[in-house]
Amino acid sequence: MTAIHEHPNRFSAETPWHMRGNYAPIDDEATIESLPVKGKIPVELNGSYLRNGFNPAGRVPAHWFFGAGMIHGFDIADGKVAYRNRYVHTPYVDQDMDMMEGIGDLTLSPANTSIIKHAGRILALEEAHFPWEMDIKLNTLGCVDFDGRLKTPMTAHPKISQKTGEMFFFGYQFLNEPFLTYHRTDAAGTLVQSEVIDIPRPVMMHDFAVTENYALFFDLPIVFSMEKGGFRFQRDLGGRIGVMPLTGSNADVRWFEVEACTVFHSINAYEQGDEIILQVCRASSIMEHGMNDIGDQSSPWQWNLNLKTGKATETQLDDRTGDFPRIDDRLVGLPSRFGYMAGLMEGSSPGFLGEIYKYDMKTGGVETHSFGGDEANAFEPIFVPSSPDAGEDEGWIICLSHDDSNDETTLNIIEAQNFEAEPVAQVVLPRRIPFGAHGSWISAE
Ligand SMILES: [Fe+2]
Repeated sequence: MTAIHEHPNRFSAETPWHMRGNYAPIDDEATIESLPVKGKIPVELNGSYLRNGFNPAGRVPAHWFFGAGMIHGFDIADGKVAYRNRYVHTPYVDQDMDMMEGIGDLTLSPANTSIIKHAGRILALEEAHFPWEMDIKLNTLGCVDFDGRLKTPMTAHPKISQKTGEMFFFGYQFLNEPFLTYHRTDAAGTLVQSEVIDIPRPVMMHDFAVTENYALFFDLPIVFSMEKGGFRFQRDLGGRIGVMPLTGSNADVRWFEVEACTVFHSINAYEQGDEIILQVCRASSIMEHGMNDIGDQSSPWQWNLNLKTGKATETQLDDRTGDFPRIDDRLVGLPSRFGYMAGLMEGSSPGFLGEIYKYDMKTGGVETHSFGGDEANAFEPIFVPSSPDAGEDEGWIICLSHDDSNDETTLNIIEAQNFEAEPVAQVVLPRRIPFGAHGSWISAE
């Protein structure tokens, strides 16, 4: 199927920012069996890089986050790269449904934010609905409700334990209670635990974190209000981090007071002595004056949550602005040293910089990989280990970049331990890929 939609002029200043430039959607679903490679794709790379993002199908949504999900997939094997992109074929694509019609119906997800694999299933995720399952060729298989056991939305940022194979996640709701529910599946993907967590008001909760023994919830004041027409940041309400044993319940949650702020993404969390170390991309505000108010851009911060004293200390790790943080996924919830993230423009206008950062949390060092001048933009970097037993940072960074000067998108493969060097391989795509959200590496079976 090739969808042809009318979109506003993406070069006009009158077009909303999320439909302009490289935020603008593309129209086609392409399949390209083999792409020319500059450099050499490491032979160890054998799998697929899938990236989800917002690609409105014939409508101009009120916000970047409300476009239909489109997956861009790169199959990489034997030093070769094949590409295909497909919509997640929800009713927003196939029946031209308006996103507002799906509010409150958990099956009607735009499935536009992330894509993960757990227990043999590839799930396209958003945060206000159930996931949708895809196959590795990016065919849409349908909505997943965990055999009827899931009764709430599912976050786009579940955490998977490499040790136990369990998947931990949560769902938040803003129109009705419960406002927050925690969920746990076993390694086979069966939903085995759901716990309502009491929070006083409906807040936007995009991500959370886990350690080996605890789930960490971010009760930060982006509050939904019908009178105000959506979510608004309310600094006077302060912020809290909830710490709950992974098999615990609401009665076990300990809340740690923190300064009011916003966090879209955690970097990682782990236990160290009496403390939980929680690293996040934190901004001082967002959506203070409306849903499209970008606020301040985020930078990396660390919270030390002392389980003995019940106190939190907050430390800014760096003043560069960035987000879309990733680590070696094998270390989710465990002590990790390296974090990778995309640079963002400072100030209150949205924009990706043409650089990505590698943080060494042990030394405080930062390395920058630059994709060129002012007209380059880099997307979320992901890490792929060179083998299952490779050490942390032993592998590659996969990252898309876009160049506004020629409208080209490039797939870059960078040696993580030689981060500032030229990519070891680049694939220039025959047409652009819009900015999007999150991706995953899915190893070949
Ligand atoms: Fe996200």
